[in-house]
Amino acid sequence: MADKPTKGLADVVAASTALSDIDGVAGRLFYRGYDIHDLAGRATFEETAHLLQHGVLPDRRQLAAYGAELAAGRRLGPLVEANIAEIAGSQEPMEALRTLVSLSSADDPDKDSNAPDASRRKAARLTARQPLLVARYHAARTGASVPEPDPELSVAANFLMQITGRTPEQREIEIFDTCLVLHADHTMNASTFAARVCAATLSDMHSAIVAAIGTLKGPLHGGANEQVMRTLEAIDPNGVARAVREKLAAGQKIMGFGHRVYKTEDPRATHLRRMSRELGEASGDDTYFRMSREMEEVVLAEKGLYPNVDFYAATVYHYLGIPTDLFTPVFSVSRMAGWTAHVIEQHADNRLIRPDSEYVGEHDQKWVPIDER
Ligand code: ACO
Repeated sequence: MADKPTKGLADVVAASTALSDIDGVAGRLFYRGYDIHDLAGRATFEETAHLLQHGVLPDRRQLAAYGAELAAGRRLGPLVEANIAEIAGSQEPMEALRTLVSLSSADDPDKDSNAPDASRRKAARLTARQPLLVARYHAARTGASVPEPDPELSVAANFLMQITGRTPEQREIEIFDTCLVLHADHTMNASTFAARVCAATLSDMHSAIVAAIGTLKGPLHGGANEQVMRTLEAIDPNGVARAVREKLAAGQKIMGFGHRVYKTEDPRATHLRRMSRELGEASGDDTYFRMSREMEEVVLAEKGLYPNVDFYAATVYHYLGIPTDLFTPVFSVSRMAGWTAHVIEQHADNRLIRPDSEYVGEHDQKWVPIDER
């Protein structure tokens, strides 16, 4: 007979990984042994993705080669081109991305190989394509024209340029780049676990990423950043504390707070809070930042809960001019680096992931013919 299950697999060690590590008590996060506080604001997203997918921080030559690989991957395949307008007109952003990534396998020359080199090429293509998918989806639904990606620009700069339709300021690019670094990987979070479960059947990388996108979409995971902004927009700026207390009294969760692993401040939130403050002040209207600070104080006092990565990411993206319903897609742009690296890692030392379950149903039922039921 199986042991009692741990609801939500809390504290269950489900895989070995050399990609990222969390100390939930000290509030620390590491990518391949590098402290997130050392990477944030220093490493670019490209360096971080290379670190995750290739195992090392790139030297200049490696970074140039990886950057060229990403630039070459910034194009959509014919099947995506043929369908994106219809999908944009009928599907919400995360639904659309799930579909568009699935369609993307059609023109990937390595789609049928899980060999390490083929997988790393696919990882780079998926990482390059994801921001373009978001930008082209947004353009298709708004009818706007989208500038072609510039091979000389970074992932962050290209994305901001394509989404906002203007040349972003250098500081905006740096802040968005740091956001991408902060979201790139996070141990056995739900979407990464979903990707690894899929990969462990020896299914292909695109299928694993589709599973991950479907999992990220939920409001208890990546979908929370959009919900944070919706909450801020719905609350009276002069009644933040009252609104939060009413929600808590009604048994509602406050999106962007709490975490399965962190028992203290999420180290990513520290950077995002600082960037939200900076952008809010620079915008001349930091109301949402100030409301966020007040929410933070009330939730900590009432529930002892700290903001997670999604809380201040919401206002940072808002101040950067990113539409609210694209916040979770932006998360996927960054997490693609981690998901793909986890698929490669899973395939490198694979065993089918197939846990047991505790049976809680009826026993010894007697068969009853259909007319006697
Ligand atoms: N607001 C109010 N109460 C909360 C919150 C919250 N945000 N989070 C947890 N709690 C409470 C629960 O109601 C529960 O209380 P109870 O014991 O009185 O019933 C207790 O804290 C434990 O909560 P669980 O949901 O069981 O904790 P779990 O570890 O399963 O969930 C999770 C973690 C999903 C992140 C949770 O804190 C939550 O739902 N937060 C809001 C959604 C969110 O921000 N998700 C993004 C997480 S970060 C990421 O995925 C990128």
